[in-house]
Amino acid sequence: MKVIIIGAGGQGKVVLDILRVEKRCEVMGFIDNSLSMRGSVIQGVPVIGDLSVLPELVSNDIKGAIVAIGDNKTRAKTAEAVVKAGLKLINAIHPTAIISPDTRMGVNNVIAAGAIICTDVCIGNNVIINTGAIIEHENIIEDNVHISPGSKLGGQVTVKKGAHIGIGSTLIQNITVYEYSIVGAGAVVLEDVPAGTTVVGIPAKGIKR
Ligand SMILES: CC(C)(COP(=O)(O)OP(=O)(O)OC[C@H]1O[C@@H](n2cnc3c(N)ncnc32)[C@H](O)[C@@H]1OP(=O)(O)O)[C@@H](O)C(=O)NCCC(=O)NCCS
Repeated sequence: MKVIIIGAGGQGKVVLDILRVEKRCEVMGFIDNSLSMRGSVIQGVPVIGDLSVLPELVSNDIKGAIVAIGDNKTRAKTAEAVVKAGLKLINAIHPTAIISPDTRMGVNNVIAAGAIICTDVCIGNNVIINTGAIIEHENIIEDNVHISPGSKLGGQVTVKKGAHIGIGSTLIQNITVYEYSIVGAGAVVLEDVPAGTTVVGIPAKGIKR
């Protein structure tokens, strides 16, 4: 299937790399709203234009897309625009990720190299499970979440919509991280994180509301 990647920044490069090793799709180009990216070529793949070109691409036999934007809200909003334009959202799953066969997963998800997803995990849409992250048994990872590289989530953790789990953080079992909250890099989370809160440190404590 011919596909495009929306977002030509760092996350876009990561997704291109995954799709190339997966070998399921042919990446025809990047879409990026930034004027400075226009006309550039990234690792041999051209930046075709901004979101306004999507309808034209659909008529040119491009069937699929994946949104590679780090910001959780922007990624979700952009995914809606892609579907409206008539493209099918795909997942990018690195072959070195270990994923239990009973994992339930939506679309527009990126599972990066070396991630481990244990049994009975449910992952929504527009989720990034980044390099080397560990998702233990019975986690629920809702839509638009980003689990950063090297973070570790114990059993029965729930990460609600739009939350960001920072690089190298650890969440003990049975924690819920509520909507649009942020767990700082390296934090150790021992209790639930309320919605819209940023927590940092060991043990993790709130810094702002
Ligand atoms: C938690 C975080 C979001 C806070 O960012 P911010 O809102 O801009 O906060 P600030 O940088 O102004 O820091 C506020 C205070 O928290 C402290 N702080 C920030 N991040 C911290 C962290 N991860 N651990 C411990 N303390 C931290 C700062 O030192 C500062 O303390 P001070 O008030 O005593 O000076 C950010 O530092 C972070 O950890 N982001 C995660 C990044 C990540 O995982 N990236 C991976 C992408 S793939």
